[in-house]
Amino acid sequence: MGWTRKDLLSIRELDAAEIVLLVETAASLQEIAGREIKKVPALRGKTIVNLFYENSTRTRTSFEIAGKWLSADVVNFSAGGSSAAKGESFIDTARNIAAMSPDVVVVRHASAGAAEILARTLPCSIVNAGDGAHEHPTQALLDLLTIKEHKGHFEGLSVAIVGDITHSRVARSNIHGMRKLGMTVTVAGPPTLIPPFVQELGVKVAYRLEDAIRDVDVIMMLRLQQERMSSGLIPSLREYSRYWGLTLDKLRAEARPDVLIMHPGPVNRGVELSPEVADGPYSVILDQVAKGVAVRMGVLLLLAGARGEAA
Ligand code: CP
Repeated sequence: MGWTRKDLLSIRELDAAEIVLLVETAASLQEIAGREIKKVPALRGKTIVNLFYENSTRTRTSFEIAGKWLSADVVNFSAGGSSAAKGESFIDTARNIAAMSPDVVVVRHASAGAAEILARTLPCSIVNAGDGAHEHPTQALLDLLTIKEHKGHFEGLSVAIVGDITHSRVARSNIHGMRKLGMTVTVAGPPTLIPPFVQELGVKVAYRLEDAIRDVDVIMMLRLQQERMSSGLIPSLREYSRYWGLTLDKLRAEARPDVLIMHPGPVNRGVELSPEVADGPYSVILDQVAKGVAVRMGVLLLLAGARGEAA
């Protein structure tokens, strides 16, 4: 099948074949990172604007690298250094950017639905690089590519997603993707950080870390998103870490020896993960980051309609 969508707004809107196409396209582009000259002409003459209203290290950098490796012209916009600081609205800013004829706008915003509003308003392709607690589709795609390369398949795998589920766009995108690809998902965290009715997404719920991580293929630990929390959802970081922090002792006691430890970053070392786990033999965290570039190349290629021209 071919790609037909103008935008990439969520994993929820995709079917399994579209997710597999995105993952396979990214997989085929990974070899560019190993070339001496990391440049292919696929998006020559195309312009990509990274419109970031929230902080980012991995997503913004990897979209920039991806665009440049594909020979596109890449412009980075940060709200802090722009006329947004003088009061220009999000939609006015976006309309002004669109007037400069970009082919793709990659947007990150604290409000759920921000990418969808742009997709309805602007003629260019829109990529959601994270909208509030809603979705982060390219993060889920790079997580899926990492799982596929380490485990060889999707169907039948079991995953525990642990931590601040309520505020996590990463959890939401991964749940949709993993369920569509035939994986079993358990979410786990303190009751205050598990959204009501989460079972309606087709997941199980565990309220003890030990119960969640026993006998699963993948453990995905999440950052506590304190910037999105009202106060009082956890008693203290220390108590959270005691009950929900993943340590080598807990891993050795409960998890399979071939379990993958994932985390979207940034990691709060000593809170959700001990440094020994973050840097240890089960961790694929930096592999996830590396795959982020290939996934973002794949997304840009498919959206800009230049699939197959990278070789
Ligand atoms: N995983 C992720 O989105 O990281 P950044 O916030 O650094 O982009």
